[in-house]
Amino acid sequence: MALSDKLTAKLNEQITNEFNASQIYLAMACMFDNMALKMLSRWFRLQADEERGHALKIIDYLLSRHAKVEIGSVPKPSPEYPSVVAAVEAAYEHEQKVTRQFDDLMAQAEKDDDYASQNFLGWFVDEQVEEEESTRHLLEVARMAGTHYLQLEAYVAHLRRSEG
Ligand code: FEO
Repeated sequence: MALSDKLTAKLNEQITNEFNASQIYLAMACMFDNMALKMLSRWFRLQADEERGHALKIIDYLLSRHAKVEIGSVPKPSPEYPSVVAAVEAAYEHEQKVTRQFDDLMAQAEKDDDYASQNFLGWFVDEQVEEEESTRHLLEVARMAGTHYLQLEAYVAHLRRSEG
């Protein structure tokens, strides 16, 4: 069964959304590095890599369904934010937006009775629960730390150690 035109178009849009997220997080990583917040910078750089991986996963899925892939252009990400908390808040808001995008994709796959796409999208729905949770925790700790950046750095370093 071929993918519906609507789902194909939405998945192509999502490829761009994932590359957009990747660029946003990479820009944040650079801002943090320039503030000598190496741990936070690393957290966002890894996140940027993950988002790129998500885009590639969708590309591979479209190809496996013999659907047309269109790589779109992404807007220039903001190079800086007024504060560390403002940047992490923006990241959390972005993750919530991505969750809504995947909910919309899943609704389309359900409308199409496309069970393979529902299974494929289920991975992203689960992934978004994790991504929202980890970004929300980071935001809570950033708010608690305020301008005590070294505490935030210690928290992110601890996260890395506990995740192995
Ligand atoms: Fe790929 Fe965090 O959305």
